[in-house]
Amino acid sequence: MEIWLDSAKIEEIEAAVRWGIITGVTTNPSLMMKAGTADLKTNTQRIINLVGGPVSAEVVSDDAAGMIAEAEKIVTWSSHVVIKVPITPQGLQAMKVISEWPAKVNATLIFSANQALLAARAGATYVSPFVGRLDDAGHDGMEVVREIATIFSIHDIETKIIAASIRHPRHVTEAALAGANIATIPYKVLQAMVRHPLTDVGLQRFKADWEQALNMSTK
Ligand code: E4P
Repeated sequence: MEIWLDSAKIEEIEAAVRWGIITGVTTNPSLMMKAGTADLKTNTQRIINLVGGPVSAEVVSDDAAGMIAEAEKIVTWSSHVVIKVPITPQGLQAMKVISEWPAKVNATLIFSANQALLAARAGATYVSPFVGRLDDAGHDGMEVVREIATIFSIHDIETKIIAASIRHPRHVTEAALAGANIATIPYKVLQAMVRHPLTDVGLQRFKADWEQALNMSTK
C-alpha cells in the first residue's frame, strides 16, 4: 500500500517528503483553507514539485459543465495532477468526460461500495472512501474499503482504492489489511505512525549501555 499525504501545507509536505516514503498527495478545499491559500494552481504546482508524483486538486462546481471547465484548466498545470471530482450524478458525467481526455480522476466523498463501483465505471483512476467520516457517523468505514476491494478484485476493476479521512495509525494498518492500494494520511497521523514507546525506551537503554561500554574500555 502506498503512503500519500493528505495536506496542502507546504511545510508538512516538505517534512514528510524528507522521510522518503511519500508517493502522492491529496488536497481539498478545506485543506487549502487550512494552508491559508486560495491560489490552487500555485500551491498544487509547489506540491507537485516537492513530491514528483500524483497530486489531487478538487473541482468545486456543482454542475458537470462547470467541473469539466475547471478540469480543463487544472490538467494543464502538470502531468502529475489528478482531478478530484465528487461522486454525484453531475460528478459522474464529468468523470466520464475527463477520464477520456485522458486525465486521471480521483472520485471523492465516497461513502459506499456502490458509489465506488459507479465511479470506477465512469473511468475514475482512484476512488476515495472516507473512512473516518463514516466511523464518525456510527458506521464501519473500513468495511466499505473491504467491500470495494472485494468487488474490484472479483470484477477485475483496475481503479485504485485510496483510504481517505484517516484519523489514527490503526486506520492505516486496517486499510492495508482491507486491500486499499493507497492511504492518504494527515501529517499528524504520519508522525504518530513512526513512534512507539518501546522504541524510545530501547534507544535510551542502548545509549546508556554504550556509555557504560565506553567507560569500561577506557579503564
Ligand atoms: C481525501 O482525499 C480527503 O482530502 C480527506 O481524507 C478528508 O478527510 P477528513 O474527513 O479528515 O476531512
